[in-house]
Amino acid sequence: MTREEGKRPQFGGRVLGEGEDVFKHNAWDNVEWDEGQEEAAAAAIKEAADIRVSEDAAEGYEKKADEYWDTFYGIHQNRFFKDRNWLFTEFPDLAPKYRGAPVRVYTKNTKDPDLALAEESAENKEENSDEVEGNKCDAELDILDRSKVEELRTGEEWFGENSHYRVLEVGCGTGSTVYPILEVNTEPGLMVYCCDLSKTAVNLVKEHKEFSQKRCFSFVCDVTKDWSEAPFKPESLDIVTLIFVLSAIHPEKMRNIANQIFKYMKPGGQVFFRDYGRYDMAQLRFKKGRCIQDNFYVRGDGTRCYFFTQEEITDIFTSQGFNQTQNIVDRRLQVNRGKKLKMYRVWIQAKFVKPISS
Ligand SMILES: C[S@@+](CC[C@H](N)C(=O)[O-])C[C@H]1O[C@@H](n2cnc3c(N)ncnc32)[C@H](O)[C@@H]1O
Repeated sequence: MTREEGKRPQFGGRVLGEGEDVFKHNAWDNVEWDEGQEEAAAAAIKEAADIRVSEDAAEGYEKKADEYWDTFYGIHQNRFFKDRNWLFTEFPDLAPKYRGAPVRVYTKNTKDPDLALAEESAENKEENSDEVEGNKCDAELDILDRSKVEELRTGEEWFGENSHYRVLEVGCGTGSTVYPILEVNTEPGLMVYCCDLSKTAVNLVKEHKEFSQKRCFSFVCDVTKDWSEAPFKPESLDIVTLIFVLSAIHPEKMRNIANQIFKYMKPGGQVFFRDYGRYDMAQLRFKKGRCIQDNFYVRGDGTRCYFFTQEEITDIFTSQGFNQTQNIVDRRLQVNRGKKLKMYRVWIQAKFVKPISS
């Protein structure tokens, strides 16, 4: 399904018209790919996959995934904090009472060629400023009542037991999704859990000035393994977010993660997913020798990346019992106006719900 068929109003307002100057704006929505373009992308990917990573090396990347991500965050610290205004337009249930609330725009100052260009479609500052200006609402006046938060925590047997709305961010990195949620959703009854494979990332999340407010719990967890250290209980989560994290995990382990999420989610709870799509520019940039298996690559720093089709995402979650409520492909053309570069981005966004009676 394309975005147009999915009738999504959130992104997608800027469409490149015939004969229009492509360098007039930073980004264009709903970019159509012709057959030739898709064929050329498939051919380039096939050629780059001619020489693959050896089995031994691939095993090493899997075994030491935590070390590679630790090194990554050790070097880059929290410079990957993203401008995430789109979180609430795309996933309004992250802050249901605060739809359209303005979000502070975090500074993006990384120069890393891969991740800086990767991932975010709506991080275009032009768009974000429109969004923020246009959507001011009463939430701006809300101030978190910290005494109510203290009250909620009193006598809890597990952290978040008395919370009314529990969100888990899987693979939280340095908190690009977590902190906007805590900032916008000022409900005292909100609890945001976040976990990551990397200790360094989890420590960076804890250093954030908003952390001490007792509405957030951050912990180290390899979600491909044991979830027993998680603070929450089965059937306790309302929302689970997977934002550019499943792509970092071996494809064979993805279904099991969906299975664990299903276990810990309340009936009626939702999964919000956004990640790389097949033929995204980041995939086309991988050279020979980087492919581990079809559509799964290792970067120079040892971190890995998978590129999904919509069907694969449907399969991962519906095979574990979820119902799909959204699955769209977001194709954008990002433009570097100074360098006259055109970058074709492909992201998949999907939502799933755990049936009330399963
Ligand atoms: C591309 S980053 C995305 C971070 C964050 N979700 C964001 O959007 O900024 C992928 C994250 O997934 C984490 N990760 C990779 N494998 C994981 C695993 N098996 N369990 C938990 N986290 C993992 C990495 O440490 C990294 O922080």
